[in-house]
Amino acid sequence: MNLDVTSLVDTFPEASKLSQPLVQKRLRYFVWIMAAATLFLMALGSATRVMNAGLSCPDWPLCYGQLLPQQQMNLQVFLEWFHRLIASSMGFLAIALFGVSWWQRQQLPRWLPGASSLVLGLVVFQGILGGLTVTELLRFDIVTAHLGTGLLFFVTLVAIAASLTPYQGMGTVGKLPWISLSAAALVYLQSLLGGLVASQWALHQCLNASQLCQIMNSHILGVVPASLAILFLGVSVWRTPALHPLLRTLANLVSLLLLSQITLGVATFRLHLQVEPLTVAHQFVGAALLGTLTVFSVMALRDMTPDCDESLLSQEP
Ligand code: HEM
Repeated sequence: MNLDVTSLVDTFPEASKLSQPLVQKRLRYFVWIMAAATLFLMALGSATRVMNAGLSCPDWPLCYGQLLPQQQMNLQVFLEWFHRLIASSMGFLAIALFGVSWWQRQQLPRWLPGASSLVLGLVVFQGILGGLTVTELLRFDIVTAHLGTGLLFFVTLVAIAASLTPYQGMGTVGKLPWISLSAAALVYLQSLLGGLVASQWALHQCLNASQLCQIMNSHILGVVPASLAILFLGVSVWRTPALHPLLRTLANLVSLLLLSQITLGVATFRLHLQVEPLTVAHQFVGAALLGTLTVFSVMALRDMTPDCDESLLSQEP
């Protein structure tokens, strides 16, 4: 799912009254594209794992000592190799974002150079974890940390892109930002639990050898707090009069994604991971849910100060 809300925002008349420097507009599109590419990259990572392709390239950072291992190429090698290719491209894009944010900082919001430094730091750390995943032979804690850092990288990009997107708040959000931030934190924790299930094949272990059932059960129980927080958010949005239409649309999307995620989780569970696209979709929709909650949180926080559009605050005198 493409989380780009730029076009959605552009349909609201007040957004068109706002103007940003050209470099900021371009960076906004650039960061949205990076976020969408990261969503795809995480799904690719999930496909690599569920197809047992995690060690298809036995060495790192090259694959069979080559940039393009033509002779060894099959579906599994392709998944692992392609995941690395897109991941390293993300590294170069993060360097470009970092460079432009610092170089053009006079025309950009004050917080952007710091935020793009965080993006660069996260991608470097993620690359190290990716290497360790291979050299440590898919150790479950490293695989889970790799998923957790990937999600943080994605959330940071989405938060930056949402902050750069023109938005004229209405000052009606009340406590909604804090509710959505809590829901996002619970969905993140639930995703880490999912990562622990996936990286240890806990479903198979539980069904075949009655082991690791606690891990599987904690992921199933983890649905409760995350769903309750999202339900509370939905009800609060519904009961808030004169709320910005973008926030209403995002809240509806969050509910829809939660329902899809639970359905996909139950299907993955009942079909014992036999249908790989379902398992990959479970990872993809989980990340999209977290991303949408992030956009909601950022926009709701900005709505608290309707007279001060942070996306327009540059260091220009
Ligand atoms: C808010 C709801 C949920 C979220 C955010 C979530 C998130 C995740 C994530 C991020 C993963 C790791 C996927 C990967 O690394 O490929 C995962 C794995 C898993 N989840 Fe969920 N999940 C949710 C609900 C559920 C439900 C209701 C079930 C059903 C019992 C479920 C069953 C599973 C199973 C079986 C796995 C392991 C898949 C594998 O081994 O590849 N999940 N979940």
